[in-house]
Amino acid sequence: MFTRYDEVAAVLRDPNCSAARAGAWVNVVGSDARQEFRALKGVLARTMVFADGRRHRRLRQVVAHGFRRAALEAMLPSIRTAVEDGITALLAAEARDGEADFMAQFARPLPVRMIAGMLGVPFEDALGLVASSDAIARFIGEPAPSVAAARAAEGGAQELTAYFERMLHTAGRHRTQSDGGGGLLATLVDAHAAGRLSTRELIVQGAMLLFAGHETTRNLLGNGIQALLSHPEEWRRLAESPARIRAAVFEVLRHDSPVQYTGRRVIRDCTVAGRRLRRGDLVIAHLAAANRDPEKFPDPDVFRVDRRGEATPLSFGWGPHVCIGAELSVLEAWIAFTQLRRRLPGLMRIEDAPMRIDNAVYRGLARLPVRCGAPADDTTEISGNACPV
Ligand code: HEM
Repeated sequence: MFTRYDEVAAVLRDPNCSAARAGAWVNVVGSDARQEFRALKGVLARTMVFADGRRHRRLRQVVAHGFRRAALEAMLPSIRTAVEDGITALLAAEARDGEADFMAQFARPLPVRMIAGMLGVPFEDALGLVASSDAIARFIGEPAPSVAAARAAEGGAQELTAYFERMLHTAGRHRTQSDGGGGLLATLVDAHAAGRLSTRELIVQGAMLLFAGHETTRNLLGNGIQALLSHPEEWRRLAESPARIRAAVFEVLRHDSPVQYTGRRVIRDCTVAGRRLRRGDLVIAHLAAANRDPEKFPDPDVFRVDRRGEATPLSFGWGPHVCIGAELSVLEAWIAFTQLRRRLPGLMRIEDAPMRIDNAVYRGLARLPVRCGAPADDTTEISGNACPV
């Protein structure tokens, strides 16, 4: 396990440390794993996260189209609307129950809505698939996955792939009829038609994006509001400038990394960051520990928005697999924190230590009870020029 910043970055860019580790990982569950968990292994192994070299570059290139700067800027209005709807949902829950749950009313639905919009699938469908995706996240988050966790994840993988198989037929038809629109799925269908993606790869990229798009961002939103509300001075000062909000997003990512660690399999004997590694070794690159390396971040345990000239947190990974959705999630959090601060300046936590999810990889809150305070009537447009992407 590597925990220092430079070591973690070295592992993540070393070609001897392969990302193609899905099969061996699922097989650890038991000798019947090869047969019993075929859908799960198929999904994991065909995503770009678990691919190396040329295959990885090919998959990444196809998907990257949806994350171009222009595509993200075009999402600004829908992110603002989704954030406003989240605020309305918080107020409604408080009016009904006397308190709201920031995770249920705001942090969970927002990223699902965004990734559904980006893919071009109905929001309600995507919301209905969250339980399947959560089952896979629980499997990934168990250091030694149990058979029960693997079975639940296998069911989740089957549901996700069956859904995207159906959707892709629709997206394909839509594309042929109107030659336009249809979101990222339609782009993937085009890449398939051009022979750049196999049918299975096509289905799996859709499922993977839905998973990756919300399992992480919701924790950035929840961890962020939890951190900011426990530092009321910071919460007050957020109103000062868009740059301060962007800095707050990165400090949340550093201090409370939504993804704690990732893994690699060593494919040939080598030395990485001064340590001898043997072929077959499993390496853990501990992103959250690297983010608290005192050589890079003075007073690493202190949450401080005004850090200047320090290293980039490794929360989105590093090297060839660095997160493709990083800018999207920063944008979501930036708009969310901006609008929440303006519209609900009196937002406050009810519990000092809200319950966390039980997961070693994904760090987030199970619930975050809040009171909204009196809503402010601030409808100032967030300037496109201030957009942090
Ligand atoms: C706070 C939010 C997010 C965090 C902390 C996060 C974290 C990460 C990390 C650590 C990796 C690298 C994994 C590795 O090297 O093994 C990664 C890769 C990836 N992420 Fe994210 N992610 C976030 C949001 C998103 C979003 C919104 C999307 C898509 C809509 C996304 C899609 C992906 C994809 C496709 C990869 C694989 C890239 C590759 O293998 O080339 N992520 N993410």
